[in-house]
Formats: sequence, C-alpha cells, structure tokens
Amino acid sequence: MKKPFVYITRSLPDEQVKQLSEIAIVEMWEKEEEPCPRNVLLEKAKQADALLTMLSDQVDQELLNAAENLKVISNLAVGYDNIDLKYASSKDIIVCNTPDVLTDTTADLAFALLMAAARRVVEAADYIKEGKWKGWSPLQLAGIDLHHKTIGIVGMGKIGSAVAKRAKGFDMKVLYHNRSRNEEAEQAVHAEYLDLEDLLAQSDFVVCLTPLTEQTKELFTYDRFKQMKRTAIFVNVSRGAVVIEGDLLRALEEGMIAGAGLDVFVKEPIEADHPLLKLQSVTALPHIGSATGETRRKMMDLCCKNIALVLKGDKPYTQVQLKAGKR
Ligand code: DGY
Repeated sequence: MKKPFVYITRSLPDEQVKQLSEIAIVEMWEKEEEPCPRNVLLEKAKQADALLTMLSDQVDQELLNAAENLKVISNLAVGYDNIDLKYASSKDIIVCNTPDVLTDTTADLAFALLMAAARRVVEAADYIKEGKWKGWSPLQLAGIDLHHKTIGIVGMGKIGSAVAKRAKGFDMKVLYHNRSRNEEAEQAVHAEYLDLEDLLAQSDFVVCLTPLTEQTKELFTYDRFKQMKRTAIFVNVSRGAVVIEGDLLRALEEGMIAGAGLDVFVKEPIEADHPLLKLQSVTALPHIGSATGETRRKMMDLCCKNIALVLKGDKPYTQVQLKAGKR
C-alpha cells in the first residue's frame, strides 16, 4: 500500500518526527528560521495527506481547495487563527492544535513580560551593558510594584487561569473577563468576573490572553485604552490583531496608559523601525510565549502523534472543534 505523504512547513529535529517517518513519507521545508514560501506550501499541499503547520502559515480556502488528499492539519500552536477552520471542517479535514502542553510555559512568559514591563528589566539590562550606569541613585530606573496590585485578565481559559495562579503568589487581586464565567478560577484564586469596561477601569495590569476570533479582533481600541488607568500596563500574549496597534501607540504617546509588554504583533516579524518599538515604555518580545526547549518538543511530539492517529484512522488527541475557542 502506498505510504501517506506528510509535509512539515519548517525544519524540525529528526528525532521529533521519527514516529511519522515510520508510517509515512515525510518531507520538511528545510529552513528553521524562515517560513515555507507560499508557492512551495501550495505545491506540497496538493499531494499531502497531512500537513504539520506553523502559526505563520496561512491555511486558507485557496490552500484547502488545492489540497485534494488532505486529511489532517496539525498546527504547532494552541492558537489556530491562521487556519480557516470552518472551511476545513466543510471538507472533512481534521484540524489539531497543541493545548495543555504549553499552558504553564506560556503563563510563565506572560508573567515574565508583566514583570519586565513593570520593573523596566529590559531597559535596565540595556542600561548597564551600554555603560550608562555611573552609580546608584534613589529613583534610578524606578518601576512599578506588582505585588498587592490588581491584575485584569482578558481571556480566562487555561493560560489565563495559570497566569491568575501566578498573580495570586504575588498577593495580587485577580479580575477577569471572558466569554463565559470560569467558576474553577473563581474558586481557586478568588478571581472576580467583571464586564470589560469595569475590568479596564479597575486594573493596574491588563493582560490579554484571549484567542483571536471575529469577536476579539481589534478589541483593544483607543477608547478601551482610555478606559484604563493612566498608570496601567497592558500586556499582550495572545495575538497581535486583538489590538489596533496605531491606537495603542497613540494611547502610549498621549500617556493614556503607562506602558505595554508585547509578545505578539499584527504583522510578524514586526519591522525593527516600527514606532511601537521606539518607545521606552514598550517591552517587546518576538512571539516566544511557548518557547522553551522542553515545551516546543512536547508540542512537536503532540503534532506528530495527532497526525499518526488520523492517518491510522483513529481519533487525534487534540482536535479543534468548530465551536472551540478556549486556550
Ligand atoms: C500559540 O501556541 O498559539 C502561542 O502563540 C505560541 O507562543
């Protein structure tokens, strides 16, 4: 019997894909840092029984129409806004993501970014390395306290709950806003549900962890930033497109909020001369939410297992359901 064909859109370590090589013909885009060009992806998709994709690959109608044999798309991310899920489902193509294995790692990063922005860690690290430190002084690089403050989490799924747990360790008051109530988080960390407007008005730190959907696209506008405290710090570890970046820039420039910690951007990679990156009040990271060696290997493993299961005719571990949206 002809072996199925699996195309992986980035170079992954051989030992990670071994389980697939045993049951399928596996090809990979050879570069680790550069995305698979669109024309290559379209060409490979035509023959593929399975695709292992990155969040930077657009799996849209054009691609799904070209992919006549495709049975499964396994996305190396918990987010799947790069995939037209509805269209894939209409073609009986299974879509899988990598929830759970990255929850704590991404929550750690969200909290690290929050702390870095509040305590000016990146600015201070640059300061010493650039030879600017001429001696200790009382208000030098003074930041904002986190402990005993109020954190407002927008998107209280698994990662949001894990961030809330960390916040509790810092004696923070936890507010949240979500599509639906999260009773588990309410009990575990005494998180208080608020509507978005109240959460923005009361939080010292607003952390966005919501998936990108029709409802959350461009959720954070100038008016929303205006509703926040002037001392507030906004942190985004979800997707860039939940924010209108021009509005965030204006809010920061006008002092409507005090700072931002950003791990995600509308266009990735963001241009180095983007005005947001020029602001001292912005702490920026290159989308590294789940980027630890351990977690990325677990994500790769899960992606491969899901593909192997579907190709054998079994149910994958983590199939995205059409109505899902919790991270
Ligand atoms: C995801 O998995 O969706 C995250 O953005 C990765 O950091």
